[in-house]
Amino acid sequence: MQDDLISQIDKNRLPRHIAIIMDGNGRWAQEKGQDRLYGHFHGVESVRNIVEGAAELGIQYLTLYAFSTENWDRPAAEVDGLMTLLVETIRKEVPVLNKNNIRLHMIGDKGMLPDFARQEMEEALQLTAANTGLNLVMALSYSSRWELVNAVKNIGLDVQAGKIDPLQINQEILQQYLTTSQIPDPELMIRTSGEHRISNFLLYQLAYSELYFTNTRWPDFRKENLYEAILDFQSRERRFGKTGKQIEEESRMA
Ligand code: IPE
Ligand code: IPE
Ligand code: MG
Repeated sequence: MQDDLISQIDKNRLPRHIAIIMDGNGRWAQEKGQDRLYGHFHGVESVRNIVEGAAELGIQYLTLYAFSTENWDRPAAEVDGLMTLLVETIRKEVPVLNKNNIRLHMIGDKGMLPDFARQEMEEALQLTAANTGLNLVMALSYSSRWELVNAVKNIGLDVQAGKIDPLQINQEILQQYLTTSQIPDPELMIRTSGEHRISNFLLYQLAYSELYFTNTRWPDFRKENLYEAILDFQSRERRFGKTGKQIEEESRMA
């Protein structure tokens, strides 16, 4: 089944960047009569599997929404459990990332992380910095509104300092102030668990992304589900505001 799906994927038309809202851990656990943390724990297995799948396919960027700014408002026991799980996972996985030439990045408000988690993350970022394969971007304590407010604040400071002329501000300049300044926009955004919303994730960067929603809860999401999403992506016509006829002509010329 898995081989069958992967063979249908057009390797020349892979999305360069896939972003995933990993949702449904809590419900997955509760449906099994377990504590929500049990779901987060099993979600890590999906992360491993999907990172491996993306690397095997040759995807260049994979962004995983692991914890939002708003998630800090969850009960303290869940937040603590998630932070501990994060640190344990990083500690265990860094050698695997290095073995597979995967570079870790983080987008989000590092200052909000507890010291032990921030230190572990900083170390992992350094330890994988020389890797040149898949770029694995963890969105942690991330929200798009936080990112955009931050960008506006920093642009304001640079205008005040005379480093930029406000009349010269354009999309390229704004892009440089986002946490994703070095990362291309995602072509494909996947959300698991049946929710059909963006939940403050990459609002600016998703402007022209193809959105894919699946009912599968994150702990059940595996490589074959990723392949299905990519196949769905490849069946779509991306028009970027143009007409279908223009797109057809352009692809004939290319
Ligand atoms: C996603 O699963 C993981 C995080 C947000 C940390 P949830 O914890 O949101 O699970 P549900 O959506 O409540 O089932
Ligand atoms: C979004 O999921 C954040 C992550 C998956 C990390 P949530 O479960 O927090 O989003 P809402 O509350 O359902 O919108
Ligand atoms: Mg959720």
